[in-house]
Amino acid sequence: MEGKGDGPLSEDLGEGIRPRNLTDAAILSTRTDEFLFKVIKNGGKSVGLNENMPDWGYAFDDAAIKNLVKYIRTELCKCKYNGG
Ligand code: HEM
Repeated sequence: MEGKGDGPLSEDLGEGIRPRNLTDAAILSTRTDEFLFKVIKNGGKSVGLNENMPDWGYAFDDAAIKNLVKYIRTELCKCKYNGG
């Protein structure tokens, strides 16, 4: 999986709904780390994004979610929050 939102589940989401391309620095640099943590832990709906983004809080503890955020920053978007 390369984090581009085109994995095996992405085709089943319905017309026009796509997981985020997490390599897209233009989008990811507008997000704070706290926002990314929350959307992973509590799901898309919790932050006003698409409800098809599942909540992963049942599967990953907070330390693991922090590592996912770090992975997005260092390996996928290679970006930081740019202040909005
Ligand atoms: C561990 C696995 C996953 C991680 C770490 C992850 C991470 C993320 C993050 C950080 C965002 C927000 C991006 C932003 O700030 O705009 C997001 C959005 C989203 N994700 Fe995931 N995701 C995962 C798995 C999935 C899966 C399996 C699906 C669907 C089958 C999915 C569907 C979506 C959708 C639909 C959005 C919202 C896009 C929008 O509202 O435009 N994600 N995901």
